[in-house]
Amino acid sequence: MSRKSRLVSLRSDDHGPRFGGLARSFRGGPSFILRPTQFKDLDAVLAIEQHPDNHGLIGQWSRDHHASAIERGDREHWIIESKADHAPIGYIIAYNLISEGFGLYVKRITVSEKSIGIGRMALHSFVQDAFCRLGADSACLVVYRTNERAQRSYRAIGFVEVDLDASDRTKLRKLDGGFPDDAVIMRVQPTTLLAPNASLQSRPAPGRDRR
Ligand SMILES: CC(C)(COP(=O)(O)OP(=O)(O)OC[C@H]1O[C@@H](n2cnc3c(N)ncnc32)[C@H](O)[C@@H]1OP(=O)(O)O)[C@@H](O)C(=O)NCCC(=O)NCCS
Repeated sequence: MSRKSRLVSLRSDDHGPRFGGLARSFRGGPSFILRPTQFKDLDAVLAIEQHPDNHGLIGQWSRDHHASAIERGDREHWIIESKADHAPIGYIIAYNLISEGFGLYVKRITVSEKSIGIGRMALHSFVQDAFCRLGADSACLVVYRTNERAQRSYRAIGFVEVDLDASDRTKLRKLDGGFPDDAVIMRVQPTTLLAPNASLQSRPAPGRDRR
């Protein structure tokens, strides 16, 4: 099986008791799969990335930059696709930084419909699958300190803030391409990754976005 040939399938009503919380939160709502991004998806990726709801919260890449991430063997570029109509509803980009000591580096995640758990479910599925495929001993990411929604979503699946020493922080910043001094660095390990269902059990009904 090729490195990226697997589809990570997650459907709210497919998982029985283990995903009971998700099923409740998503009753009648979206279900999705993760699949590798193709060049033909790039219009949708750019539209999501440039959308006013996301523009100030994530980096803005050119089409060529995305295309290069699709092609490179040390990059992961995945579409979060609605099972209902196969439309892209988000995407995830990650770097394989295992040899640099940072494990799987989640460079970017964006979902169109926010605060109903899609972000944490997609990230959990992606990280869990990538741990198996790549053999990473951890996954990390960097988030703006003011982006509390993202931090809550990441914390819900086990990411915790880590305090890198100055030299590691500089090294990671270089590998990332740059992030602010006060940005929050978060990490999770295979043994500390949490299934998203528990954190969604007590969520209010979809549609109560606090954005
Ligand atoms: C970040 C992102 C991927 C998270 O996915 P999501 O599906 O929206 O997030 P979740 O539903 O899993 O969790 C959102 C959490 O933030 C909370 N939240 C919502 N709006 C909030 C706000 N304005 N302030 C603080 N918390 C907020 C929700 O209540 C929920 O927390 P809870 O479960 O503890 O109640 C998504 O919001 C997104 O695409 N944002 C725009 C791009 C972005 O910021 N990307 C991340 C860059 S690092």
